[in-house]
Amino acid sequence: MNDVTLFHGECLRLLRKIPDASVQLVITSPPYNVGKEYERLVTIEDYLKLQRAVIDECVRITRPGGSICWQVGNHVNGHGQMIPLDILLHPLFVAYASTDELRLRNRVVWHFEHGLHCKNRFSGRHETILWYSKGDEYVFNLDAVRVPQKYPGKLAYKGDRRGQYSCNPLGKNPGDVWIIPNVKNNHVEKTSHPCQFPIEIPERLILALTNEGDLVVDPFLGVGTVAVAAVLHGRRAAGADIKREYLSIARQRVSAAASGHLKRRPFGQPVYQPKPNTPLTISPFKSRTQSATLFDQRPVNVHC
Ligand SMILES: C[S@@+](CC[C@H](N)C(=O)[O-])C[C@H]1O[C@@H](n2cnc3c(N)ncnc32)[C@H](O)[C@@H]1O
Repeated sequence: MNDVTLFHGECLRLLRKIPDASVQLVITSPPYNVGKEYERLVTIEDYLKLQRAVIDECVRITRPGGSICWQVGNHVNGHGQMIPLDILLHPLFVAYASTDELRLRNRVVWHFEHGLHCKNRFSGRHETILWYSKGDEYVFNLDAVRVPQKYPGKLAYKGDRRGQYSCNPLGKNPGDVWIIPNVKNNHVEKTSHPCQFPIEIPERLILALTNEGDLVVDPFLGVGTVAVAAVLHGRRAAGADIKREYLSIARQRVSAAASGHLKRRPFGQPVYQPKPNTPLTISPFKSRTQSATLFDQRPVNVHC
């Protein structure tokens, strides 16, 4: 297999060509069966049947010590009722847990701040990533993905290390709630794909769960975000998509990543905080006194 394989067609056709136990990491964000431009709405039973077939192949190609990461949101059915897809999909993976093959290591919550504004329920601002390892011994390079400590200067106040810095100088474990902006219109990584995920999501998983030269596979590749993250870090990649136009964007992005010209949000950059007291951040609709009473119906004295 080449360093990067971008396959046009059904993912099962690509997966069936990949030898057993040859892949270190499968990362994907499958269609959610919600009627996006790239999917055909089917019954939830048929949706799960296809997912099961893809998952079966992914388990077959993943090597012991490797991992599978499934990033999903919600399916919404005819009654506007939410069905978190990880709840439906986890049992398909659990079938392998009973044969000792897969272990759920984390259910990461990916929180973002932009999206549809719902009128009849709270607006959805998170999706999840199910991370399964194949077997009990697996690659997990925590040092590669540590994030800055909140209190780097904190000292131990008792014990043998009293008076010494108590935190890990390399940073802290990023935890299982990841706050990373989603790719909306003014995001530097935005392409014409309606649902691409930010490079930082697969990047963090690739750095933590693979080593250089390893093969990373995304069965539902879209515009190639997983392949781009793999190339940026010296990993090999393979993926499929049924839409030729997405693959052509993927090809351009992979080339840009390989030549160092990719436009991207920098890894680890904190979420943008708008400056206070600017025309954009001061509410034009009410005085500060009114907004204070809005959230606390007891009278308060606020001096403007
Ligand atoms: C949620 S998007 C993935 C987006 C991707 N993570 C990215 O950042 O660009 C799902 C993708 O799966 C593709 N797709 C749907 N059914 C497929 C199938 N059976 N085989 C391969 N690709 C498929 C769609 O065209 C769509 O681009």
